Amino acid sequence: MRTFASLSVALLALASLTVLAQTPAAPKAPPAPPQVVAQTPPMGWNSWNFFAERVTDKDIRAAADQLVATGMKDAGYNYINIDDTWEAERDASGELHTNAKFPDMKALADYVHSKGLKIGIYSGPGPKTCGGYAGSLGHEEQDARMYAEWGIDYLKYDLCSFIGDVLEKQAPNDKAAQMRLMIAAYDKMNKALKATGRPIVFSFCQYGWDAVWEWGPSVGANLWRTTGDVTPEWDRIYAIVSQQAGLEAYAGPGHWNDPDMLEVGNGKLTLAENRTHFTMWAMLAAPLLAGNDLPNMKPEIKAILTNRDVIAIDQDSLGKQGARIYSDGEVEVWTRPLAGGAVAIAVVDAGDSRYSTHPFHLNLHKLGLTGKQTGKDLWTGKTVELTDNMPLELASHDVLLVRVDKPKGHVQ
Ligand code: GAL
Repeated sequence: MRTFASLSVALLALASLTVLAQTPAAPKAPPAPPQVVAQTPPMGWNSWNFFAERVTDKDIRAAADQLVATGMKDAGYNYINIDDTWEAERDASGELHTNAKFPDMKALADYVHSKGLKIGIYSGPGPKTCGGYAGSLGHEEQDARMYAEWGIDYLKYDLCSFIGDVLEKQAPNDKAAQMRLMIAAYDKMNKALKATGRPIVFSFCQYGWDAVWEWGPSVGANLWRTTGDVTPEWDRIYAIVSQQAGLEAYAGPGHWNDPDMLEVGNGKLTLAENRTHFTMWAMLAAPLLAGNDLPNMKPEIKAILTNRDVIAIDQDSLGKQGARIYSDGEVEVWTRPLAGGAVAIAVVDAGDSRYSTHPFHLNLHKLGLTGKQTGKDLWTGKTVELTDNMPLELASHDVLLVRVDKPKGHVQ
């Protein structure tokens, strides 16, 4: 009996095993969709250019309020990014704490989100940030998880102390090995961010070293700085613009050249210089991260930052960066192909006074255009006609920006 009973139990068990085996396996969860961020260049505001190390929680909240109140949010600015100096020390478990300027990052992120905006933060692959605060070295996964728990939407990751503390120590005098170490460090944070499952824009800040535009996207860069820091001075801004010529092949939806944040409204830039700076960032499909004192923004600065026609050039869905087509003396001509066959043409007078090209004559042939072109001057809002060899009078450091929706010819 006992034998029979145990046999039946065994048979029953076998039968249920068979049933189990025949039951179709529960469908596997579909793989997480790829993160779709930065399909157009990110727009928003970053704390560094105006506040630098002085920025506080209160300033970030005020900036969020102002993006809404000034209409900048409606014009497309939707990231509020905290730059360096929010960090305190790590505790025994390695968790990084915020300093007294930022008492509660989660509450701050909630506040920014409650305004319909997104929030960004800053760190770096080294032991220290540029400001000497705690970096993410050895804590990448932990930090990425913390950002995701706070609700962070954007990370600027700045090389800084990784140069002296890692590259020069681990691979002294070996540029190739240093480059591999740097790429691996960025990829480490890339994987840590992806592992959180939260879409987080990943912004590389390593000043354009080792032709980052060639390898950045393969390790998750949505944008990468192409130069050292911008300052609110014409010479610096123009030097940065000049360094972008030739990089247009590397930009596109999800991955952009970053000539640094905007200085519009800062320092002693003239209105013409502010206009040209903003124009050129739009021509370059650059991230538009304002960096000015939003609560005290002058109306003429607001008018520049919220010029919807110029923003539309920057945010054009084709995602093709503009190129410098030719220069004549101190005048440069850039074009940017736009969706639907349109084109933007920017003519910049980079000179301090009238040099050899006065008066400058526009050469439409060099732009691939034939015959009279009708377009819109995006700074005056007026219809303009461009003809070959027409003389153009531009004030020093000023710009003419024209959008031609139906260009005639084969635009470069
Ligand atoms: C620099 C960076 C600046 C700012 C600063 C903060 O390396 O280029 O944009 O982030 O660090 O310390």
